[in-house]
Amino acid sequence: ECRPAARSPWPYPRWIAHRGAGKLAPENTLAAFRLGASHGYRMAECDAKLSADGVVFLLHDDTLDRTTNGQGLGGDQAWVALSRLDAGGWHSPAYAGEPLATLESVARFCLANGGLLNIEIKPTTGLARETGRVVALEAARLWAQRPGAVPPLLTSFEPEALQGARETQPELPRGLLLETLWSGWLETAIELECQAVICDQDLWEAGNVAQVHQAGLRTLAYTVNETTSVQRLLALGIDGLITDRVDVFPPA
Ligand code: G3P
Ligand code: CA
Repeated sequence: ECRPAARSPWPYPRWIAHRGAGKLAPENTLAAFRLGASHGYRMAECDAKLSADGVVFLLHDDTLDRTTNGQGLGGDQAWVALSRLDAGGWHSPAYAGEPLATLESVARFCLANGGLLNIEIKPTTGLARETGRVVALEAARLWAQRPGAVPPLLTSFEPEALQGARETQPELPRGLLLETLWSGWLETAIELECQAVICDQDLWEAGNVAQVHQAGLRTLAYTVNETTSVQRLLALGIDGLITDRVDVFPPA
């Protein structure tokens, strides 16, 4: 008989606000995290990368072009230059002047409001392990200021980034992100002692949900914006849904 592995505690809610509040506010800015919280979302996802001088800040794309008034690679600039950019005006005039957020500023907001955070590590090219180490160290430093707070969930598409995070902060929970089911994905998640596998929503089906649960890990899906998808995933027993539509889905 093959008995399921014991599952570690899972302190996170089912619903997670993607990039703070999806597309309703400029992604990954403090304004977005405030808006997500105002819709009742206790947990948000964010994208963390390193500036040229090692500050952990939030930016989804490699470049600044789409979501700021800057140009070029975000990781090529020092924080002092990044901090002067407008990361809100591209979204709408109401958000003009909204700055890029550091992980520290968002962590402070979450910790002050009982909010939970999923930090996706977006590694500097060629430095996945190092990025994982630095982001994990910074997360641990910030959460240490609030003993007893639920730790952030660290996730990445790059196993090496999770390996780096595990080296410095083995106690912080980890999740492997997947946009395809590449060979050995579940073994990799288990080797990295991940607590969760977070798949593109279309990849989940009954067989792999059962496999992941059997291994004692949680199943999460991104980016779930349609009611029909929500119903399909909940019927499959998916444990967490990352959504842009904080205005549509009550996070109960
Ligand atoms: O963390 C889930 C999701 O955010 C991954 O995709 O491209 O939105 O960072 P992306
Ligand atoms: Ca992300």
